[in-house]
Order: sequence, then C-alpha cells, then structure tokens
Amino acid sequence: MDTLAAIQKRRSIRKYLEKPISLDVIGAIVESGMMAPNAGNHQAWRFIVVRDLEKRKSLAKASLEQYWMSKAPVHIVIVSEEAQMEKLYGVRGEKLYGIQTCAAAIENILLSATDFGLGSCWIGAFDEVSVSRICGIPPTARAQAIITLGYADEKPDRKVMQPLKRLLFLESYGGRISEISDFMWDWSDIIQKEVNATKSGVKSVLKKVLDSHKKNFEDKLKKINKKVDSKIQRPL
Ligand SMILES: Cc1cc2nc3c(=O)[nH]c(=O)nc-3n(C[C@H](O)[C@H](O)[C@H](O)COP(=O)(O)O)c2cc1C
Repeated sequence: MDTLAAIQKRRSIRKYLEKPISLDVIGAIVESGMMAPNAGNHQAWRFIVVRDLEKRKSLAKASLEQYWMSKAPVHIVIVSEEAQMEKLYGVRGEKLYGIQTCAAAIENILLSATDFGLGSCWIGAFDEVSVSRICGIPPTARAQAIITLGYADEKPDRKVMQPLKRLLFLESYGGRISEISDFMWDWSDIIQKEVNATKSGVKSVLKKVLDSHKKNFEDKLKKINKKVDSKIQRPL
C-alpha cells in the first residue's frame, strides 16, 4: 500500500475481532514508530507492548472506562522520556518536543498498522497516574498515548471533514485562496458560487463547471498519470 492510500484508509477502530496479532507484525509496526522524526534524534520515546488481558482491562478502566479497548489484542503505550527532553531543551523540550516526538511515532504506528491490514485507535483520554502504575512508568517519564491494535470488526461511517478553504491559508494566517480547486480536488466552492449566482440545480451546475474546467481537469489527470506511470516498474 502506498503512503497516500494508507493515510486515506486509516480510521479509528473501536471494535476488534478476537484474532491475535503475530509478534513479528507487532515488532514491525513498533519499529516504524521508531523511524519517525524526533527531536535531535535522541529518540526519547519508549514503547510498551501490552498483550496481557488483565493489564488491558486495567488500561481500559484507567482510560476513563473506555472498556471497548480491552477487546483489542494489543495495546501499545507510548512514553516520552520527559526528564531527558527537559535536560536537553529546557521548557520547550519538556512541554513541546517530547509530545511532538511521540505524536510523530504514533502516526507512523497508525499508518503502518493500516498497511498491515490492522485497525487501531489513538487513546489520549486516560488517568496518567493509573497508567504509570499499571505499566511501571518511572516519574522521569510520561505516558503520552495508548494505541489499541487489532483486526477491525467495524467499518466506520464516512468522516465529516471541514471544508479545505476554512483550514488552508496561503502565505500567512488567514490568507485566502480564491480558487481552492487550483490547489486541491475540491470543487465545492466553485459549484456553490455558481448555484448561488444562477439559482440552478447542483447537477446542471456541476456539468457546466466540469465542462468549463475541462482543460484544467485534463492537465491534472495527465500529471497524475505521469506520476503513476513513473512508479510502475517495467521489466528490463
Ligand atoms: C490526542 C488524541 C486523543 C484521542 N483520544 C481518544 C480517546 O481517548 N478515545 C477514542 O476513542 N478516540 C480518541 N482519539 C481518536 C479521535 O477521536 C479520532 O482520531 C477522530 O475522531 C478522527 O477520527 P478518525 O481517527 O477515524 O479519522 C484521539 C485522537 C487524538 C489525536
């Protein structure tokens, strides 16, 4: 699976099959976490793999009673070596770098799990003192997240996404993009404007917009095809 496909496919899974995950797969997934960018390459993260059912139940309880978690055959607790980060980088290290370092590893793990055909969920809502006690985490380190891992027993509904134009700025905060379709495959803005201006139905507007942007559309397609072509390995 290529990276973009994994990014698009990944969803939070909260229902799991009772099917174990082989150790080599768990190892490969954790290793992909360790390949993430991290502050100063100090790799101030630790990964605790929890398979024991009683421990998983305790972690689920400590996670503000998210009991569904215990059904996931594997939990990975991501820990930042907070004291080490503070020593190296001061307040920024403690308050920011440790968190970002672990977050980068977490995302790698989630994407790698997707690539292995596994479901996962990032858990941030938990009582830290309880999680530290359950996993024996020393006071110099801090549990940042728990990842549940297992074969999915659900297919989540399509996710509601905010419109790109609300989230994406050009050059500086608040910098508006007049034609978002120039950047992304988001035609909603153009269609909405046309519907408002002409008071016609979405279907006819869609046809009109697609016709008038045919050239732009075809150029984009050509570029994509070229990219795909260059990725296809041809026999020597
Ligand atoms: C920092 C953070 C904390 C989260 N904590 C929880 C959690 O405690 N329980 C849970 O079920 N999901 C948790 N999530 C998952 C989000 O709810 C989920 O990513 C979001 O709804 C988007 O859905 P998606 O992951 O399917 O794309 C957390 C995600 C992040 C990034």
